Amino acid sequence: FANDGYKLWLQYNYIKNETLRNTYKLQIKNLNPLGDSETIKVALNELQLGLNGMLGEAYATNSITTKEYNLIFGSKTHLAQDISIQLANEFNQINDEGFIIKSIFLKGKKQIVITAKTDIGVLYGVYHFLKLLQTNTSIEKLTIVESPKIKVRTLNHWDNLDRTVERGYSGASIWDWHRLPDYIDQRYIDYARANASIGINGTVLNNVNANALILTPPYLEKVKALSEVFRPYGIKVYLTARFSAPIEIGGLKTADPYDADVIKWWQDKAAEIYNLIPDFGGLLVKANSEGQPGPQNYDRNHVDGANMLASALESFGGIVMWRAFVYSEHDTTDRAKQAYSEFVPYDGQFKDNVLVQVKNGAIDFQPREPFHPMFGAMPKTPLMMEFQITQEYLGFSTHSIFLPKLYEETLKTDTYRKGKGSIVAKDIDGSLNDKTLTGMAGVSNIGSDINWTGNVMLQANWYGFGRLAWNPYLSSEDIADEWLRMTFSNEENFVKPIKQIMLASREAVVNYMTPFGLHHIMDTGHHYGPGPWVSNLSRPEWNPVYYHKADKQGIGFNRTATGSHATEQYAPEVANMFNNIETCPEKDLLWFHHVPWDYKLKDGNTLWDGMALKYQEGVNQVETMVKTWNTMKPYVDAQRFREIQTLLNIQYKEATWWRDACLLYFQQFSEKPLPKGVEKPT
Ligand code: GCU
Repeated sequence: FANDGYKLWLQYNYIKNETLRNTYKLQIKNLNPLGDSETIKVALNELQLGLNGMLGEAYATNSITTKEYNLIFGSKTHLAQDISIQLANEFNQINDEGFIIKSIFLKGKKQIVITAKTDIGVLYGVYHFLKLLQTNTSIEKLTIVESPKIKVRTLNHWDNLDRTVERGYSGASIWDWHRLPDYIDQRYIDYARANASIGINGTVLNNVNANALILTPPYLEKVKALSEVFRPYGIKVYLTARFSAPIEIGGLKTADPYDADVIKWWQDKAAEIYNLIPDFGGLLVKANSEGQPGPQNYDRNHVDGANMLASALESFGGIVMWRAFVYSEHDTTDRAKQAYSEFVPYDGQFKDNVLVQVKNGAIDFQPREPFHPMFGAMPKTPLMMEFQITQEYLGFSTHSIFLPKLYEETLKTDTYRKGKGSIVAKDIDGSLNDKTLTGMAGVSNIGSDINWTGNVMLQANWYGFGRLAWNPYLSSEDIADEWLRMTFSNEENFVKPIKQIMLASREAVVNYMTPFGLHHIMDTGHHYGPGPWVSNLSRPEWNPVYYHKADKQGIGFNRTATGSHATEQYAPEVANMFNNIETCPEKDLLWFHHVPWDYKLKDGNTLWDGMALKYQEGVNQVETMVKTWNTMKPYVDAQRFREIQTLLNIQYKEATWWRDACLLYFQQFSEKPLPKGVEKPT
């Protein structure tokens, strides 16, 4: 009945290579914890679990020391002086959540020390150390000095209080509100372990389309219970606040941020929350977007709303994450332009404890979007990246897509806002403009499915998000490599080919869904499967035809000066590049231009032929994924092998569905035959 999918990347598989196992055993003779905080206990438990699994040896819980090869772990204040003196340099390099792992000599005897300024830092170091063994890395001569580059690293759960999950594809919400606060599900603990292992330090428990009930006393008791589970793991809880909560649960007539009673209501609410949860992280708000209430209902702006809440939280050390995902039914020329115009003019006016949370692109979590023009454009406002881990527009949990490739693409793109090299990652980690409050949020793909994410391959996206929130400069290739080794196997014959298909999977989904900058052509409401023909929804910007604008002349959304002029929201270098059809990257072509069907692409094909070939390429790529996986049986347990195989087969079927549907639909405008090499739709 075992299900390895539950264990995520913390499998701690027995190391079958005897030489390696014995080497590790020689190098780790005794565990020597320093201090007895809950966090140090968690670190000790994890080491025991991991080492027992990987080395087949039970490590004692006491601190009796052997002469050499103690694994000493604890924070700076607990270190003996002859150790801390040796680490003075390293201590200067880390921040409060950073860690040091170092091989040192004590009276001529070799020891390994895992230390930090805080116990949480020690725990991060312990997970890193376990990862070294999980990935079969040498621990002979260690000097590892690491600190997270981003402060607030959160998951956003779009979970409702009835346990449905908005855009969730892996079962019900893991938060069992009915049985909280008294019943603590083992899942909460394993959730905390998994998150701590990748450095996630915050979780927003409820949906951005929020229910104000979460802020009432019975629910706050439940939230408190969760916060107590998470605290030793360094994870703070946050809540989404419904802006109209003072009306709905406070009995007030208004939620106007300038109203004295409203201000007082939020201040009292903050005090009530912090009384229960002293390290409560703060509030996330979706305001004046998709029908959610907000300050604009009272002729106020985002600054008014955000600052009012920020004032209520500030004395407790809480923050406000105010979302920039806004678009209104009143301005329908180009939805992509709205966030920038509602926020950028207010740069510098938000309080210090406000982060503006911006999606990676200006529309909505598409398989590919150009970076959001707000990045780099608000030098005086901390901007928090919002990535979607759940695959609303990318085949739900059925399609195996490795998202760190997408995240990396956005993070490494140059905004040119302070000259060449002003990449998005530098805005997010604060280095571009010396911002001190920094953050990255990931819309969670976690649910109550046994394997957490509905598809084992998609655990990599949770993992990869955490890694990039820790260090936005990491490469997706390294992330895939370590995830595969920890989750499945270190066998090169497995890691190499599977890494390759993972890294290709993101381009594959772009190819079979939205090549050349097409976007939002999924069937609407649910966003699953193709629906480029849909045109009957009440709001124009919900209809796919609004985005692809296919006609007899061509296809694509003209966002240049002759169109919506969304390009002017970018730095001149970037705007010029996008404006000119010759310099606009082909991957973004139809995002910015309405292009004739017989336009010549760089490879000499016409746009129509090139598009058809891309759709076919996407299908071929999935075929390769299926074939590659089919040869991996020797390396994976039967259950996970079959699960992934079944899902890949569905993905293949659906990639052909996408190709056929889109090509047949667009063909009525192009009026051209399919080029050689593209399979005829059946
Ligand atoms: C998308 C998604 C909604 C979600 C919204 C948001 O539009 O379809 O379900 O509420 O994003 O991010 O707020």
